Amino acid sequence: MKKICVVGTGYVGLVTAAGLADFGNSVIGVDIDESKIKILQKGGIPIYEPGLLEVVQRNVRAGRLSFTTDIDQAIQDSKVIFSAVGTPPGEGGEADLRAVWAVATSFAKNLNNYKVFINKSTVPVGTGKKTLELIKKNSEKKDSYDVVSNPEFLREGSAVGDFLNPDRVVVGSRSEKAQVIMKDVYHALIIRGVPYVETNIESAELIKYSSNAFLAVKITFINEIANLCDIVGGDVSEIAKAMGLDGRISPKFLHAGPGFGGSCFPKDTMALVEIFKEHGVKSRVVEATIEANEYQKEGVVAKLRSVMPDLKGKTIAILGLAFKPETDDTRFSPTKVVIPLLEKEGATVQVYDPVASDDFKRDFPNLDYKNNAYDAIEGADAMVLMTEWNEFRSLDMKRVKKLLKTPIFIDTRNTYDPRDMRDKGFTFVCTGRTKCAY
Ligand SMILES: NC(=O)c1ccc[n+]([C@@H]2O[C@H](COP(=O)([O-])OP(=O)(O)OC[C@H]3O[C@@H](n4cnc5c(N)ncnc54)[C@H](O)[C@@H]3O)[C@@H](O)[C@H]2O)c1
Repeated sequence: MKKICVVGTGYVGLVTAAGLADFGNSVIGVDIDESKIKILQKGGIPIYEPGLLEVVQRNVRAGRLSFTTDIDQAIQDSKVIFSAVGTPPGEGGEADLRAVWAVATSFAKNLNNYKVFINKSTVPVGTGKKTLELIKKNSEKKDSYDVVSNPEFLREGSAVGDFLNPDRVVVGSRSEKAQVIMKDVYHALIIRGVPYVETNIESAELIKYSSNAFLAVKITFINEIANLCDIVGGDVSEIAKAMGLDGRISPKFLHAGPGFGGSCFPKDTMALVEIFKEHGVKSRVVEATIEANEYQKEGVVAKLRSVMPDLKGKTIAILGLAFKPETDDTRFSPTKVVIPLLEKEGATVQVYDPVASDDFKRDFPNLDYKNNAYDAIEGADAMVLMTEWNEFRSLDMKRVKKLLKTPIFIDTRNTYDPRDMRDKGFTFVCTGRTKCAY
């Protein structure tokens, strides 16, 4: 049983800790945030992630998983140290690596025998090299460590399944000793035939940014096609379906919507642009993607204005605050762009999300938060569906129509059929399918 320490018990760290414990390792999860550790020590989890509570509790019960705020002791007691701390955007869009450096410094100070430092956070190319230098500077034992890059590809909302059944595991290291240890850590996946990619540190770091930026480009591309459809009368869902039948394209990430958000794509595209700049080159594709995505988010208000030109004094129901369904994460949610724009035009909002209201309240404490979709819709002049939670897919439209002052429905996620909505008497605007109804 390997002794593993996972620093950071957020979306990635907690899933990693629980997943590695499920593989049979002995894992201790560490966080600087005492309130998170208290919840974990009491048998709960501090985030909403389907299926995670069961895996955490199962492994705690089996004695393979525990939690602490004592990073020094946890590192001293472990051979393998994963760093899964946040790397949010800094002021210029670059990745803020302060938390990574803090963990690497603790690692250096607690090197009581050979250990491997594994960076699971998304970090710019060159971070592994700098981590090696930082550890060397801060530790007395010069040869008793290795640094590995092991980026994570899980998706919030399906993080447990993604971690336990990944498309691939990427491990970047210059050290053969560390590569052997990593294979041991991921033995449970390797024997099941999960593709295991060994590279150098720089490639591993770049694989993560390249993958996220590529997906962001793909979403943004279909959003542009949707915008064109709204002018010329095509149906973006039919177009995406037919495009996706081409094996070279694949149907995934071809769902038009209000622009991408979340804790990864926005910050990772910004950070990648900064990485290019730092090295004296320019990523025209990624820069254009960021610009187009901002336009897409703001476009939600333009859609509403196209059917309700004066928003002053109007009440708008917002369904969905999370950046996508099945998560309570609202980081960079498109709704955070839409609401201030509506308020700027003199509208007020009534909002509802099945799980993300508390997270949203940190940035927007004074909104009118409702307890269910119908309460949010009641008395509103229009409703805007921002997140495609399952419970929004089958609303009682007769009731919705009665509750709304005017039957205006902006469906940014294409959850409803435009012809059906037209027949039910709604003024309906969606994304890349609106004209199909007329
Ligand atoms: N969220 C995702 O879907 C996802 C997917 C793949 C990769 N990533 C990457 O993984 C990393 C973590 O993302 P996340 O969403 O889990 O972040 P998060 O903000 O949910 O969690 C980070 C955790 O690290 C803790 N922390 C910060 N500094 C610390 C320190 N010095 N010591 C101990 N704990 C500390 C925080 O308290 C927090 O609990 C980021 O680099 C992110 O880009 C995220």
